[in-house]
Amino acid sequence: MTDKNTIVKNGKVALITGGTGGIGSAICERLYKAGFTLVANYRDFDKAMKWREEAKKWRDDQLKMGIDVKIVEGDISDYESAKRMIREIEEEVGVIQVLVNNAGITRDTPLHKMAPEQWFEVMNTNLNSIFICSRLVIEGMMAKGWGRIVSISSVNGQKGQFGQTNYATAKAGMVGFSKSLALETAKKGITVNTVSPGYIGTAMVMAIREDIRNKIIDQVPMGRLGDPQEIAAAVAYLVSDDASYITGSDISVNGGLYMSR
Ligand code: CAA
Repeated sequence: MTDKNTIVKNGKVALITGGTGGIGSAICERLYKAGFTLVANYRDFDKAMKWREEAKKWRDDQLKMGIDVKIVEGDISDYESAKRMIREIEEEVGVIQVLVNNAGITRDTPLHKMAPEQWFEVMNTNLNSIFICSRLVIEGMMAKGWGRIVSISSVNGQKGQFGQTNYATAKAGMVGFSKSLALETAKKGITVNTVSPGYIGTAMVMAIREDIRNKIIDQVPMGRLGDPQEIAAAVAYLVSDDASYITGSDISVNGGLYMSR
């Protein structure tokens, strides 16, 4: 149980896309404890009440742990939906000064079996979304003269992975986007970086067939899956004032699975 009195609020609003998921929840907790005002986005995939109810339950569970996070629905792969969501946040909570592009999906299959929608769904949710959300918050950050954008890339964007031509392309694309935006905003008090997780113990990784997953874990020098908190720690560092001179960088958090420069 977090003692709310020990958290010194810093007056800055942070939006975590896909914030109610495995890594997203850990990022929300960490940034909340660091003093940010937290907003977690979720997507109402099929307009059924199920996702809303799950998100509300997630929010209640966070509250029980002393983490107060506002939840907002929005499809970050759709410009108009994201625009509506971000306008709502800015009116009700404040200007977004920290954006964590965390939402992501997999549609793993070898290219020779890949349907066009498996390619486009991954591109839209994992890559086009970072253009959409960054574009919608960047002017507010520039006006404030302080901002942080962190995008969750992947070890598989660095090294490739069987069955992930779509996902690896999107994750590698995030890095080029972030380095370019870092150049554009370096003199405006805004830093733009990526974190590249390896295989983390979330529902996404647990969905890999068990025998394949075990083979992957055997390849990890540390011999284990990562913990969402280990990704959240890197994000918390990048959004902190301690990381004020870091921009256009990537932090790999992968148990030694791939050692890129
Ligand atoms: N390298 C070379 N060949 C491989 C291979 C690899 N890594 N993996 C499989 N193959 C071969 C198999 O040996 C098999 O060969 P044969 O036909 O000669 O026997 C052939 O490719 C087909 O393999 P599968 O039976 O696995 O094919 P499938 O169609 O049933 O499954 C797949 C394909 C769903 C992509 C499956 O291989 C898989 O799940 N792979 C893991 C993908 C993965 O790591 N996803 C990460 C998800 S988590 C995430 O993305 C988070 C993050 O950022 C890290």
